[in-house]
Amino acid sequence: MDSPIADFVKSYAASGAARFHMPGHKGRGPLGCEALDITEIAGADSLYEAEGIIARSEENAGSLFGTGRTLYSTEGSSQCIRAMLHLILQNRKPGTAPVVLAARNVHKVFIYAAALLDFRPEWLWPEGESNSLLGCPISPKGVAAAMDALPEPPAAVYITSPDYLGNLADIRDIAAAVHERGSILAVDNAHGAYLHFLGSPLHPMDLGADICCDSAHKTLPALTGAAYLHISKSAPAAFARKARQAMALFGSTSPSYLTLASLDLCNVYLTGNYRKELAESCLELEKLKVRLRDRGWGVEPSDPLRLTIAAPGASSGLELAGLLRERGIECEHADGDYLVLMFTPSNTPEELEILEAALGYAPAPPAEKKSLPLPRGEGAMPLRRAMFAPQETVPAQKALGRICGAPTVACPPAVPIAVSGERIDREAVELFLRYGLETVDVVKE
Ligand SMILES: Cc1ncc(COP(=O)(O)O)c(C=O)c1O
Repeated sequence: MDSPIADFVKSYAASGAARFHMPGHKGRGPLGCEALDITEIAGADSLYEAEGIIARSEENAGSLFGTGRTLYSTEGSSQCIRAMLHLILQNRKPGTAPVVLAARNVHKVFIYAAALLDFRPEWLWPEGESNSLLGCPISPKGVAAAMDALPEPPAAVYITSPDYLGNLADIRDIAAAVHERGSILAVDNAHGAYLHFLGSPLHPMDLGADICCDSAHKTLPALTGAAYLHISKSAPAAFARKARQAMALFGSTSPSYLTLASLDLCNVYLTGNYRKELAESCLELEKLKVRLRDRGWGVEPSDPLRLTIAAPGASSGLELAGLLRERGIECEHADGDYLVLMFTPSNTPEELEILEAALGYAPAPPAEKKSLPLPRGEGAMPLRRAMFAPQETVPAQKALGRICGAPTVACPPAVPIAVSGERIDREAVELFLRYGLETVDVVKE
């Protein structure tokens, strides 16, 4: 596979051309990577009007992922999520309401998109007991029932899989239920770009989703901000036709060529030994999980490149994260209930050994899982109106009864406890405190 963007950038840097164009560093500077950081000069193509090296590189990515169309983002899945929801709403059946049925554990960018695009989320709440804000178990049957309860099919069903804890949804059967009912399945696959390359692929595009985002930077060797918008071969044709324009609507007109070149080189990496290395990493991690379970750790089921540990006994995931930090190990996420570590083949065997040595034996068995009543705040104001209304910041305890202004989240993982426009109830206040949120932005009265 070729790497047209990286090749162009490197040859331009080597040419030593006098740069009378942006960026202002002129290819020189303290970072060392400035020479490769270019702008849309002749031959460099242009991300939102791509027909040269960027278009070719995106086609390479599309053929690797087996999609109908793949576009690059230099502004993360955040840009792709806004673009995919815009495409979905623009292409909904004429005369239907702008409603998206979404599993409640959305990333906050979904709420921002709802405000910007003025659609109404209808929520899919966790089925059965939920014990973390981050998970939202939903079944194909549950999705079908929720769709049937709506007066008309929603513009789309939107789910997050994998979620921050590594839970994977049954995308295949959910997609079937959604399609049978005449709607679109959109997946926030920010954490799952690698899933296509497993022996048995688990990527949303392999399982029947119509459109999804992947943060290449989360699980592949790509620079921060590098992401894909994938459109399936069977998605409505307008998605592919309008996708470039949709991405442009939410992106800077100065996308980073460093990030584009890293996506380009990622294609080459993925066609090399990657599948084999990924399989080996998954196997090593699986073995580590077995050994940790044997030592008493509450290792949770998760996607293959993640280790999610339930906090032992009375200690919290945050304490565990602190303990690892003292030993030179930094985790992805910790909260009162869980510790989450993310792996890729770029982690060395030595790093796994250090982690295993640091974890030793669990100080106590995992605490009994307590159910977590999620707030279902009454909708007191349309989401968009609340998001853009004058707001004030109040201490979490004083937020009871007020209308949520900005979605209230800890970031990461950026899953909102209360959503703009909802009246903050007792459960929400309890969760703010449980997740360490001391203040809340509420609509001014
Ligand atoms: C589930 C989920 N979706 C979307 C995003 C946004 O992705 P990005 O940081 O690539 O914009 C994140 C970021 O952490 C995330 O965890």
